[in-house]
Amino acid sequence: VLLPLRAFLAVVYLDGGISKIADSRFLDPSSPASMHATVVAVRHSSPIGGLLGPVQDHSVGFGLMMAIAEAAVGLGLLFGLFTRIAAAGGMALALSLWLTVSWHAAPWFTSADVVYLLALTPLLIAGTGGVLSADGWLATVRERHPSGTDDRTRRVLLAGGAAVLGALLIGGASLFRRPTSSSAAGRGGVPQTSAPGENGQNLTETAKVPVGGAVEVTDPVTGNQAWVLQLTAGHFTALDAACPHQGCPVSFVSPQDGFTCPCHGSQFDASGHVLRGPATRDLSTIPVTVSGGDVRRS
Ligand code: FES
Repeated sequence: VLLPLRAFLAVVYLDGGISKIADSRFLDPSSPASMHATVVAVRHSSPIGGLLGPVQDHSVGFGLMMAIAEAAVGLGLLFGLFTRIAAAGGMALALSLWLTVSWHAAPWFTSADVVYLLALTPLLIAGTGGVLSADGWLATVRERHPSGTDDRTRRVLLAGGAAVLGALLIGGASLFRRPTSSSAAGRGGVPQTSAPGENGQNLTETAKVPVGGAVEVTDPVTGNQAWVLQLTAGHFTALDAACPHQGCPVSFVSPQDGFTCPCHGSQFDASGHVLRGPATRDLSTIPVTVSGGDVRRS
C-alpha cells in the first residue's frame, strides 16, 4: 500500500538534493537563484524570519547541508533503510520550507511542502511494512539468525553503503553542474535598492535607473517591492516584484534573462511575461510616466 508513495517521495527528495548540487547558482550567493537570495527574499514575510539570520549569513554551508539532507532522505526512502528516521528528516525539511518559501501559498493547501509534510506521516508511523526494504530484510535476518552478526553492524554497513552511493550521486551531479549564468553585474543591471518614493507617487529618479538595467523600489501605493526598468535609453517601465505563483519577490537578472523567482524558479522576460512556471501569470505592470527627472506612477 505504501510502496507507490514511498517511491514517489524518494524520487522527489533525491531529485531535490541532486539538482541543488548540480546547479552552481544555488550555492553562489551572488546569483538571484541562490539559497542566499531565497532567504533574503522570504525572510521578512516568514513566520520564522527571525531565525533565518544565521542561514542568510552562512547560506553556502546551510545550502550544502540541505542538499545532502534531501539526498539522504531520498536514499533512505528508496532503500527502506532507517525509514522512519528518513521520514522524520523529510518532514523537518518540508516543514522548514513551508514556513519560509511557501508560507504565502494561496490557498494554503496548494503548497507542495505541506503536502510532502503530510505525505510522509504514514512512513513515519508505519515504516515500510517490510516490503522491498533494507529494514524488512534486516528484520528477517534477525529472526532467522538471532545469534548471528550483530544487527547494529549490519545496519551500519548498509548505511555506509548508502552513504557511499549518495556521495557518488552527489559527486556525479557536481561534475555536471550548470555554469553560473553571468549576472547583471557589469551590464548595468545590478539591483540597487532605492529609497521609497519620497514625493507621493514617485517611484524613483530617472538618473538612478541605469540604461539596460533596473532598480528595486517600494511602490508607494501598494507598499510592495517593485522594479523600475530602463531597457532602452529614455524608455521607463515598472513591474510589481511579487511573483504571481506564491508571492515571493522576483529578482532582476539582466535585460536578456529577465527576472527569476528564487522560491520555485519561475522565470519572466524583462517585460514581465512568464517564460517558465510554476507561475502561470505575468508580473503585474505598474503604469509610469516621467516627469521632471522622476519616474512616477501614472
Ligand atoms: S513564488 Fe513560487 S515561483 Fe515564485
